[in-house]
Amino acid sequence: MSIDWLKQAVSQSEKLYPYIPGKPISQMLRELGLDDSEVEKRAASTVKLASNENPYGVSPKALKAIQQTAIEAHRYPDGDCFELKQALAKKHGIHAEQLLIGNGSNEVLELIIRTFAGVGDEVVYSQRGFIVYALATTAAGATGVAVPESDGFTHDLNAMLGAVNESTKVVCIANPNNPTGALLQTSALQIFLDKLPSHIVVIIDEAYVEYVQSEIEDSIFALKHAGLIISRTFSKAFGLAGLRVGYAVANQDLLAVVNRFREPFNVNSIAQAAALAALHDEDWVMDKVAQCKAERVRLEAAFSDLNCLAISSFANFVLFQHENSTEIVKKLEQEGVIVRPLAPYGMPDVLRVSVGTRTENDAFLAALSKVLP
Ligand SMILES: Cc1ncc(COP(=O)(O)O)c(C=O)c1O
Repeated sequence: MSIDWLKQAVSQSEKLYPYIPGKPISQMLRELGLDDSEVEKRAASTVKLASNENPYGVSPKALKAIQQTAIEAHRYPDGDCFELKQALAKKHGIHAEQLLIGNGSNEVLELIIRTFAGVGDEVVYSQRGFIVYALATTAAGATGVAVPESDGFTHDLNAMLGAVNESTKVVCIANPNNPTGALLQTSALQIFLDKLPSHIVVIIDEAYVEYVQSEIEDSIFALKHAGLIISRTFSKAFGLAGLRVGYAVANQDLLAVVNRFREPFNVNSIAQAAALAALHDEDWVMDKVAQCKAERVRLEAAFSDLNCLAISSFANFVLFQHENSTEIVKKLEQEGVIVRPLAPYGMPDVLRVSVGTRTENDAFLAALSKVLP
């Protein structure tokens, strides 16, 4: 007799589904029906613009640190991430106790939601906010409250405020937002925070902050709220998506509670060393951010010319809108380009295209002009 494992699992499992990531290059090529040797041949010329990674690679200093630390891989990592916390504390002008480091900021988000929200509690987020908020909320057994955006792309802070009630434990806001690329000004966020009870935990998820650093005030200094948590990551501008390092900045007593849920060695030693080195390679990082922003302008201009620009983006991706988007994704894959369909976010006609290097973007635009109906 076969066992229905879903019935054996906790009740919220029925509402959960696995996160759908950007397609890895080898998976896309296998799906095209290619055999192993063809996959290997085609992989180098395939362009992946589906996960908002840094297309310029790993910073030279981080790469050196990775190579040097690999030899220590038989040892457990420092479970407290002492050196990385010291460096981040210095960078942000805060105490190390105000930091929590995670296996990507994804883990940080999950830990926070799991710590503060359970059965009977509510978590408020934007309908087209980062999908992990909804998944983590459901996994925690809590109820997600998805608030529609004012213009289809931007968080509607007034409506989010209206969704807060006595059951609300956590509010999640991505700024800039993924997948829409919209930006909220710090002043608007502070007005929102001033209207919330101070015990409500508010996550401002700043995975893409490096791309707007010159355009908004630093929220770590500017925003005030007792339950404020700012999360950041080394996965985007810092170019370390594969190593999984992210962090939260918040009140130290609040983080001490979240820390109870953290597994002992959640950030591996190579990742810690690479993140530390990348922090010291800020010139490289900011130079790549500048190149990405210049390429974003170029891609958005091309979309505009085609009448396909959904909205201007503040992050390292651009939004392409076309009624035949589903077809276009398949045809682009045949041409060796992977982009991200936004159907899971309720936008079946929109594609999210991560900004690549100039060469990658040229290849994408050439493929696009070939496949556009
Ligand atoms: C808004 C936002 N937050 C968090 C994450 C998670 O990133 P990571 O776990 O790699 O730090 C992402 C990744 O795409 C994101 O777009």
